[in-house]
Amino acid sequence: RKSVVRITTGSQALDELLGGGIETLCITEAFGEFRSGKTQLAHTLCVSTQLPIHMHGGNGKVAYIDTEGTFRPERIVPIAERFGMDANAVLDNIIYARAYTYEHQYNLLLGLAAKMAEEPFRLLIVDSVIALFRVDFSGRGELAERQQKLAQMLSRLTKIAEEFNVAVYITNQVIADPGGGMFISDPKKPAGGHVLAHAATIRLMLRKGKGEQRVCKIFDAPNLPEGEAVFQVTSGGIMD
Ligand code: GTP
Ligand code: MG
Repeated sequence: RKSVVRITTGSQALDELLGGGIETLCITEAFGEFRSGKTQLAHTLCVSTQLPIHMHGGNGKVAYIDTEGTFRPERIVPIAERFGMDANAVLDNIIYARAYTYEHQYNLLLGLAAKMAEEPFRLLIVDSVIALFRVDFSGRGELAERQQKLAQMLSRLTKIAEEFNVAVYITNQVIADPGGGMFISDPKKPAGGHVLAHAATIRLMLRKGKGEQRVCKIFDAPNLPEGEAVFQVTSGGIMD
């Protein structure tokens, strides 16, 4: 039986909320409005995953599937420096792939899984997991097929998490909730419906606070108490 590894987010408050950090062997989902910090957390994890275990890292490589073209290698540099790591070495250990269709995204996953069988990876990022599905199945009447393909993709992600003992970090979009009602001030919910709700073990809701401040709330997680953590988004990545 593989034992879970917890990877620091860069913020002690957020780590405490998560029971020590982002876990291997399962899927952690972050959703929230634009600029809420989903991609910045991905960048930070790209670096912290490479830290040794005693520094709350995962001592492993990172695979990054980018569907929105928002990965910035130059943003990795100050984050690596903040953790006292060599930026070029850190960048060399991030296997990056840009996906253009949901099928491309799926095929990239298969390729990465083959790489994981040969080298020690500890994190797989998909930012965002759902964007291409929403583009490729945008017609009315295509929702059932979209959800079926999405389920297939998520089941592959779960298999990868378990087979290679990696943490899977996915980002998700928020959509208007038509059932929210007129008295609910912020009627937004994560996209992906029951399929995503079922696949993601730990669901985090991010929102903006004042300035660089962001708030993370546990939206759904079987083993974590409900609660919130406040963190900052900086050029050195996520921190307290
Ligand atoms: P969407 O993908 O648009 O839905 O947003 P997101 O949740 O992925 O937000 P992201 O993590 O990209 O941005 C979070 C915050 O980080 C924003 O307020 C940005 O202005 C800020 N940010 C982005 N790049 C940098 C940077 O290089 N330095 C600093 N200090 N902040 C940055
Ligand atoms: Mg983003």
